[in-house]
Amino acid sequence: MHSVPPTPVTELPALEDLFTFDEFSRDFVEAARELRHRARTSLLRGPENSLVVLRNRDARALAANPQVGNMPAEILFWMATEMDLGSGPVTKPEPEQTAGFDRFLRNQVFTSNPPLHQPNRNILARQLMPRNILPFAPLAERLAQELVEEALERQQIDFVHEFAGRYATRFWAGQLGMTRDEATHVQALMEEMNLTFLLTRSPEQSEQMFSGVDTYMDVVGEAVRRAWAKGDNELLHAMAADLAKLDIEGKPEDIGTFVAANFFDGFHTVAVALVNVFFRLLGNSAAHARVRAEPSLVTNAFHEGTRLESPLMVSQRLALQDIEYEGVFIPAGTPVVMVWAAANRDPEVFTDPDDYHLDRPVQHGTTFGGGAHLCPGRNAARMLTEIALTTLTAPDLDVALVDHEHAWVPNSLMRHLTELPVTVRRVSR
Ligand code: HEM
Repeated sequence: MHSVPPTPVTELPALEDLFTFDEFSRDFVEAARELRHRARTSLLRGPENSLVVLRNRDARALAANPQVGNMPAEILFWMATEMDLGSGPVTKPEPEQTAGFDRFLRNQVFTSNPPLHQPNRNILARQLMPRNILPFAPLAERLAQELVEEALERQQIDFVHEFAGRYATRFWAGQLGMTRDEATHVQALMEEMNLTFLLTRSPEQSEQMFSGVDTYMDVVGEAVRRAWAKGDNELLHAMAADLAKLDIEGKPEDIGTFVAANFFDGFHTVAVALVNVFFRLLGNSAAHARVRAEPSLVTNAFHEGTRLESPLMVSQRLALQDIEYEGVFIPAGTPVVMVWAAANRDPEVFTDPDDYHLDRPVQHGTTFGGGAHLCPGRNAARMLTEIALTTLTAPDLDVALVDHEHAWVPNSLMRHLTELPVTVRRVSR
């Protein structure tokens, strides 16, 4: 008996027969919903003969497959500087323009593969385990309170910039021995850093991105080197000690560069998560009232908000070796496009996947990826979001959305809003 030969990725149904790349990436959540309605959620062939993964079970199985590695820095660099996605001629930037961006990519755990990946990842993961982040809570509580006090003095605030962005950057700056001014500078730089998530960029945007990343690497790198040299920051001390023990090619340059490259999600994505979770909660008055009455429900609000509005909608992996998965042959070198946001709304796993249910069981979520690359910052991200939510849903506080058109930034890997006007008032209990 002959077994059926596996189907190569090149012969899978093509995404481009269903959507242009621009349509697909304009809003991954909407595109995934559309594909679901057309019953096209099995594996697809994407641009550059990539494998597009939408279903929850495929995303989790492939995320757990050690052969599906990280996308190396050189390829991501090429994508950002030379890849032609059909939006006009590509002008290759000068090397001095992109030096900071190159350092940013090369020093990320996100871009490292075996044998460097695991020990490199552990430098960060060890410090962000639940018992190690518990002592971080009082600073987060103080900052959330401080930001509420600031908001109470205003008619309305933009929750994106005047709460979440300040909260995340002030928090990590505090933990990493940086000053308040440096935190403010880093927060301002996030506008340029956001451009790193765009799938297409105008030449002006590319220029802005390269210069923003360069400045970010310098500001955070230098602040961290200075704080480490003072010798009284435990977090930096522990990570620098682990880093010094690492002797594998491609290892991060030094503690300053390591922190700058790998805490970007702390400064940035934690704020995005807080905005998305709070936006969904404020948009559901019954759920909001329940959380105000029962603070432990902030955990449910975190899981459901990030499931529906997954901050990192997509990440790109790479087949490190030939893989056979469910009758599909994935040759080494195939880019694997993990659409976490689609897997988080898969009806096979989530009943009424587009609806907000505070009591939904927490299972099989893909907000933080999976397998050996499961986000090492997930516990810190959840703790920080929950602390802010607890403060913002206190019974003596009334926070409400201001009537406003909410638009997700298009063609971005990150699901984020550019602004979220809210009012914050004190009420009697
Ligand atoms: C809510 C906020 C966050 C979200 C939604 C998020 C999401 C993710 C996802 C989906 C992955 C897996 C990528 C993949 O498998 O391809 C990941 C990995 C990673 N995240 Fe996060 N993240 C968040 C916060 C953080 C924080 C706070 C840090 C560090 C301070 C962090 C550092 C990392 C690193 C270094 C990796 C790479 C892990 C590896 O390849 O082993 N993230 N994150």
